[in-house]
Amino acid sequence: MSKPDFDMVLFGGTGDLARRKLMPALFAAHRAGQLHPQARIIATGSGHASTQDYVAALEQAMREQRHGAPQDWAGFAKRIVYMQVDALDPAHFDALGELVQGRSPQVVVCYLATAPHLFVPVCEQLGRVGLNHPGVRVVLEKPLGHDLDSSESINDAVARHFAEDQIYRIDHYLGKESVQNLMAIRFGNALFDPLWRREWVREVQITIAEELGVEARGDFYDRTGALRDMVQNHLLQLVCMVAMEPPASLAEDAIRDEKIKILKALKPILPQEVAEKTVRGQYQAGAIQGQPVPGYLQEPGIAAGSGTETFVAIKAEIANWRWAGVPFYLRTGKRMQARVAEIVIHFREVPHAIFPRPHGLTAPNRLVIRLQPQESIRLHFLVKQPGDTVALTQTSLDLDLAASSKARRAGAYERLLLDVIRGRLGLFVRRDEQVQAWHWVEPILDSWRGSPIPPKSYTSGTWGPSSGASRLSRDGSSWHGEI
Ligand code: BG6
Repeated sequence: MSKPDFDMVLFGGTGDLARRKLMPALFAAHRAGQLHPQARIIATGSGHASTQDYVAALEQAMREQRHGAPQDWAGFAKRIVYMQVDALDPAHFDALGELVQGRSPQVVVCYLATAPHLFVPVCEQLGRVGLNHPGVRVVLEKPLGHDLDSSESINDAVARHFAEDQIYRIDHYLGKESVQNLMAIRFGNALFDPLWRREWVREVQITIAEELGVEARGDFYDRTGALRDMVQNHLLQLVCMVAMEPPASLAEDAIRDEKIKILKALKPILPQEVAEKTVRGQYQAGAIQGQPVPGYLQEPGIAAGSGTETFVAIKAEIANWRWAGVPFYLRTGKRMQARVAEIVIHFREVPHAIFPRPHGLTAPNRLVIRLQPQESIRLHFLVKQPGDTVALTQTSLDLDLAASSKARRAGAYERLLLDVIRGRLGLFVRRDEQVQAWHWVEPILDSWRGSPIPPKSYTSGTWGPSSGASRLSRDGSSWHGEI
């Protein structure tokens, strides 16, 4: 595997994402020998600090998160430089430009893990000091804007300084091994394609449930909500991976050209349909793993009486030949009963049943692709129960992906950061995909904003408001029960 020499400039180097995800991912890549020996990580923040102090604080945080052995840390720490860079101070960018150009590595990655309102001034300054030459790649962390207009104005401003093939819009769900495995299963086997369509699929369910609440991000989250935080990006990207046509190759635009077709084919949810096709909820106090947790409105940083949703369920449809009439039920929530992310393909019933059915069983054939907590793929079907009757019973073929290979599995951020360093755009979101995703979610946001009905409350540690379940029962279905 190629290991280009690089400098990675981390804007937001003192932030939560850098500490919890980016630095651990780079550390893991370092330990796995995936980084060029000279590669540097230039962490920037608005405050003044020495590299030594920054590294010491980071080491402490990594130790608390139990990442790696101390002997590996010393080698990794040598790569890190801390620099004070105030996004609005040109002198700081002059110094940054000199630091990077002093070494002139093959690749320069500028990772924008800051508040989105800083993306534009940072890109302007990078352009001014010449840190936008073709060897520079800019990584944009979500949220990219608050709606279509604000996301487009950020995209326009970034495009003034960087070509589209220098822009890596990150959606970490695309870096998850299991999501790429979904492509491998669909397009590496002849078995599934004939069944992967409306004639054989009754419905698709995609769940991303978290036990976590809003944590320390109350202020951000209260302005964002679950639809913008999870649906506009992660859930819609998963819909694309399930529903897209086979790409002609693995070339980055071959995949992205297929994904955009799905986003364009998503049936708009009209204002008069929002109440029927969507459910929004907000968690109240309850218990997670037996421990009491506060309600959303009691979390720090949340406005009094806030109407922000922490749970969303949506019935989506894809208006094309393959999927017409097949509901895609999407759901995500914080403070749910368990941390689980999974995609469930429910296949249709046999056309003519000759066996008595096991009690209460609806769709006997389900393919369950679990992304989290542990990665697995399970195909459920019916077999004969041993004995002299012809009763059927459910069984499943299980593929424990983690146990099936001893190879080290890179985490999502590690995988994506290595892709940026190697210049592979395939797992990043193209601008038109983002625009289209906003087009689809905006009418829902508008309609909720104009509605006098607040989100339904649900107790922390449950599967969300009861209306989330009744949305499906109206269609004669229920959420996949294994979680
Ligand atoms: C982030 C959201 O994009 O994804 C968070 O902003 C959420 O609110 C996180 O907790 C979930 O990611 P994962 O990989 O833990 O499922």
